[in-house]
Amino acid sequence: MSEAERIFFNPWDEAFRANPYPYYKPLMAGPPRLLNVFVPMALVARYADCAAVLRDHEHFSSVPPRLPFLEERISVFGDAPRVVFSDPPVHTRLRRLVSRAFTPRRIRELEPKIREFTNSLLERAAGRGGLDVMADLANPLPVMVISHMLGVPHEHYPMFKQWSDTVIEADNTPPGMPLPQTVRDAFTALREYFVAEIEKRRRHPGDDLVSVLVAAHEGSDEVLSEAELIAFVVILLLAGNETTTNLIGNGMLALTRHPDELGRLGRSPELMPSAIEEMLRYDGPVQATMRHIRQDTEIAGTMVTAGSLIFVLLAAANRDPAQFREPETFDIARTPNDHLAFGEGIHFCIGAPLARMEGAIAIGSLFERFKRIRPATPEAPLKYKGSFFLRGLASLPLEVA
Ligand code: HEM
Repeated sequence: MSEAERIFFNPWDEAFRANPYPYYKPLMAGPPRLLNVFVPMALVARYADCAAVLRDHEHFSSVPPRLPFLEERISVFGDAPRVVFSDPPVHTRLRRLVSRAFTPRRIRELEPKIREFTNSLLERAAGRGGLDVMADLANPLPVMVISHMLGVPHEHYPMFKQWSDTVIEADNTPPGMPLPQTVRDAFTALREYFVAEIEKRRRHPGDDLVSVLVAAHEGSDEVLSEAELIAFVVILLLAGNETTTNLIGNGMLALTRHPDELGRLGRSPELMPSAIEEMLRYDGPVQATMRHIRQDTEIAGTMVTAGSLIFVLLAAANRDPAQFREPETFDIARTPNDHLAFGEGIHFCIGAPLARMEGAIAIGSLFERFKRIRPATPEAPLKYKGSFFLRGLASLPLEVA
């Protein structure tokens, strides 16, 4: 086997997690490769192959298979249908119901609140001469926004953040290993909190997202069951939080590592929308998503047998030279930029407009407030958080003035 054909793929390996991009490159050289990690698994990395798998929900299912090593997770997290882990017709019904909470008007109305939260966070950090992008801005902002959308008291957001961080750690437990008790406890607390909140909104509905979803539950024709409703609220808290946090963190890291692009964005704030797309492409918060197949299928010439898992490597596809000119170059004005960071097809991220707006406000506000932004410890090694799927930094100290 030649050097180019040799692959190493282990999302639980620390070096792999710290910088997965070199490991993706050999996967670009040919059709999807097969591995056997507990179950047969296909690694799909090229842009055209990833897009084809995501668009073909008939062959590639989003419902996780009931494998023995996943049983424990199902028993902890429950197995009510979830929008992201379902196929039509269940997915069609859930997506239609939850879309009510994500209308363009609802998202637009959040803008002043997002600015207010961002300003209050930066106010706290200003005057210190430095800030940690993660601790001071990227970690708290998305959870403040989601808590506001869900209509829960503002002071509860640190509690949500802690639950959500702990539950995400479940990703970091290799399949087959028991989940830590802290993960079980956090999930139980989260569920109990929302059972009580749902009951409150049933009695006193408001204009918040939980009330909108409860109304969908109470409606007569199409309904969300109580278990589905709770599952969705929990997914929002998890899917909407860590991802947006990591867009802000990975995005600021890319800018500080490319001082020319950082200066360019400072001088030309109108480039912000395309800069956000480039941050999503270059170092996306969601590295991969999973599918599984029920019948033997071919993917770009590779036969994949029924029961196999498919790793759809979105972040690898986003650096495919067959799709992107100079894919390793970070160019905040890149056009076209049809990246797969939000997925593709029927599961395309429902929160994409919100994430784009939050990212633009958070990063834009840093530029508005500070004339000089540079890494505080450029030589220090970066520390990444536990999950491979949700790629993000533990901390990113900046010097600002
Ligand atoms: C930069 C931030 C974000 C990224 C990179 C991201 C990425 C993704 C991706 C890749 C998918 C598709 C998964 C698949 O096909 O298996 C997805 C789906 C989803 N995302 Fe996001 N997401 C982000 C922010 C958000 C936010 C802010 C919310 C909600 C507040 C959200 C809620 C969802 C939901 C509910 C789905 C499932 C949609 C469906 O299955 O139909 N996401 N996201």
